[in-house]
Amino acid sequence: MKTRGEKQYINMPSFAARLYDNLTSIKGVNKGFEDIALFLNKELKHGKLLDVGTGPGRLLYEISKQNSLLELFGLDISESMLVVARQNLQNIKNVGFRVGNIVKTEYATDFFDCIVSTGSFYNWDNPIEGLNEIFRILKPGKTAYIFESTKDYNKELLRVRLKQNLKGYNFARKALSKHFLKKQLSMTYTTKEFDEIVRQTFFYKNYKIEQIELGNLPIYVRLELRKQ
Ligand SMILES: C[S@@+](CC[C@H](N)C(=O)[O-])C[C@H]1O[C@@H](n2cnc3c(N)ncnc32)[C@H](O)[C@@H]1O
Repeated sequence: MKTRGEKQYINMPSFAARLYDNLTSIKGVNKGFEDIALFLNKELKHGKLLDVGTGPGRLLYEISKQNSLLELFGLDISESMLVVARQNLQNIKNVGFRVGNIVKTEYATDFFDCIVSTGSFYNWDNPIEGLNEIFRILKPGKTAYIFESTKDYNKELLRVRLKQNLKGYNFARKALSKHFLKKQLSMTYTTKEFDEIVRQTFFYKNYKIEQIELGNLPIYVRLELRKQ
């Protein structure tokens, strides 16, 4: 079967999950998680929040630092990633992880007060089905936020900002970070393509797509998907 990325993650060896965790601990990336956690903190004060494709759980960790009242849930298709996530959040209460594909989950209908996802959507083999499952498990009146890189960005500005973010790191770290970012940007969607996907989902009547910066990098969009 043709896969955008899910298959690689399902079979991900544990050393690769640890390497990913290490790479996402660099200043710029972690600042991106802080930015998102700050944004979410204004949107949601209590209730249940799900992070789809949570990976090593760094976003959930930042969210828990800003609001200890939330009940946190992490879903990921990769068992190896969740091993790392459980380690990273071992001291955090109110958090639970589950292995699974967002296309079909075991969460109850109308269950979550907020659903978020960062850097995962572009890997989903079935993005329309994934968003429709998010619609099902989100409570009516609530919003899901997908933070994703986009192909529409200013190359020169990215070059300058990346140089600032990677200042002080060794050659190998810089090379690996650039390599994975390049791969991600070659795989992700244009803003128009994001729009075309959302229009085919149950969110078609109520959504917004905005280009934003995260962690100093001008390469992201935020999809706000509201369930009416
Ligand atoms: C690039 S990582 C991003 C991890 C984390 N959200 C972050 O921002 O660092 C993508 C994650 O999405 C997960 N993933 C990919 N497709 C998925 C799917 N259909 N359902 C659930 N998780 C998925 C992968 O296993 C991986 O952990």
